Amino acid sequence: MNVPLLAMDEGERADLDAFRRDVLAGLAEAPRAIPAKYLYDARGSALFDAICEQPEYYPTRTEAAILRQRAQEIARLGGRGCALVEYGSGSSVKTRLLLEAMPDLHAYVPIDISRGHLEATARRLREDYPGLRVDPVTGDYMALDALPDTIGDARRIGFFPGSTIGNLMPEEAVLFLRRARRLLRPDGALVLGVDLKKDPQWLHDAYNDRAGVTAQFTLNLLRRMNRELEATFDLSAFAHDASYNEAAGRIEIYFRSLRDQMVTIAGSRFQFAQGERIHTEYSYKYDQTEIAELARQGGFSVAASWTDPSRLFAVAFLK
Ligand code: AVI
Repeated sequence: MNVPLLAMDEGERADLDAFRRDVLAGLAEAPRAIPAKYLYDARGSALFDAICEQPEYYPTRTEAAILRQRAQEIARLGGRGCALVEYGSGSSVKTRLLLEAMPDLHAYVPIDISRGHLEATARRLREDYPGLRVDPVTGDYMALDALPDTIGDARRIGFFPGSTIGNLMPEEAVLFLRRARRLLRPDGALVLGVDLKKDPQWLHDAYNDRAGVTAQFTLNLLRRMNRELEATFDLSAFAHDASYNEAAGRIEIYFRSLRDQMVTIAGSRFQFAQGERIHTEYSYKYDQTEIAELARQGGFSVAASWTDPSRLFAVAFLK
């Protein structure tokens, strides 16, 4: 947001206040952490799209291949005339694989926090699928408890791809599933993409791509704080730090201070010691047994689960 304060609308000002508050609170904690959602400003979202294109980042293309292969089966399990509800739809790229296989959909309901992104996506989809009813919902899918009335009694099929569930702590993932269970109603279902546990070297490489795009994505948070919170981070004095914690079953991502240094953020001064790490993201990996257990705790059961030949990624159909 390179917008002068006076030109901001109320929503933008509230977002900026929340960003400032969360950063200052997160840096006052021990260990220090900044919520992952702040990685996704416009540049961060574009960098994430670029991550998905990196040869080492297998989840996106592997999940797309599974969806391409299984779309008809998913459509059959969903049934005719259902409503497809996508959690955190972004640009809805993977959705198109399902939309192609579900020509008699009652409606497509993308949910996203970013109104601009959502409107652009809805416009494009209406152009590309003239018969499709698109009913976008702007909001935080972690807090949403109603869908547009236009959905009526159509069966609700949720879609939560990309292993975004892995960015939630396991207890948050269960809460998400319970909420989805209520929103999608007892006869609904959820198509869930989950990155699987595997050789740690694969995981390490996926979050440390050779081109350094993931590093840019992490360090973009510092750039954003410089711009929006008048921070004084020297980007060359911090490094991206991602590793797999096998015991916890998760990738842990930080930015690490390369020297002792002082940084001013929104008027407050913070000392960073050489080697100190500030946490930005977890990316949990699950195995099939853990997926079934997560589903059970969330009020679902696994009706079907598909994977790729190398068992890198799973798409599960939860009922
Ligand atoms: C969005 N999410 C599923 C990505 C992941 O793999 O956890 C975010 C990401 N961060 C760095 N690389 C990818």
